[in-house]
Amino acid sequence: MKFFLDTANLDEIKKAVAYGVIDGVTTNPSLIAKEGVPVDEQVRKICELVDGDISAEVVSTTSREMIQEGRRLAKIHKNIVVKAPLIPEGIVAVSALAKEGIRTNVTLCFSAAQALLAAKAGAYIISPFIGRIDDIGWPGIDLIKDILTIYKNYSYGTQVLAASIRGPLHVIEAAKAGAHITTLPLKVLDQLFHHPLTGTGLEQFLKDHRNAFELVSAY
Ligand code: E4P
Repeated sequence: MKFFLDTANLDEIKKAVAYGVIDGVTTNPSLIAKEGVPVDEQVRKICELVDGDISAEVVSTTSREMIQEGRRLAKIHKNIVVKAPLIPEGIVAVSALAKEGIRTNVTLCFSAAQALLAAKAGAYIISPFIGRIDDIGWPGIDLIKDILTIYKNYSYGTQVLAASIRGPLHVIEAAKAGAHITTLPLKVLDQLFHHPLTGTGLEQFLKDHRNAFELVSAY
C-alpha cells in the first residue's frame, strides 16, 4: 500500500519523509490556502522534497479552463498528478488530459457510480473521501470495497486512493480492503506508531539494560 501525505505544509512533509515511508503527497485548494503560497510555487517545493506522485488540484470550473490549468500544473514537474473534481466538466477534462498522457487524480468521489465514470475517462487515481462519508453516518469503507470490486471486474487500471482519513482504523480498513494508496494527515501517520505495549516494553528493556550494565560499571 502506498502512503501519501495529505498536506501542503513543508515542515510536515519534511518530518514524514524522514520516516522513509512516504510515497507521494496530496494537496487540495483548502490545504494550499492554509499555507498562503500560490499552488504552482508550493507544489514545486513539495516536488523537491518527495520523489513520488504529487497531486495539485485545479480550481477552475469549466472543462476548457480545467484542461488549460491541468496542462500548466503538469509542466511544473514530471511527478505532478492533476487533481480534478468529479463533476461532468471535470470528467471531460480528465478524458482530454488522459489522451495527452497527463495523469489525473479524480477527487470528491462519494459513490461507486462516480468512480466508474472516472475509470472510464482514464483517471490515474480515484479519491473516495471515506471520512466525509462517515461524518454523515454512512460507512465510508464500503465505498472503497465497492470500487475495488467494480475495477477488478473490468480490469480498470485506475488506482483507488482512500482519502479523507480520520484515524488509524481508516488506514487498516482501507489496507484490508486492498486500496492501492491512502493519504494521511501527519497526525494520523504519527498515530500509526502508537501502542501502549511498545512503550511499556521498551521502558522495561532499557531499565533491565541499565540495571545489568550501567550499575555494574559503576564499581
Ligand atoms: C485528499 O486528496 C483530500 O483532499 C483530503 O483527504 C480530504 O480530507 P478532508 O475530508 O479531511 O478535508
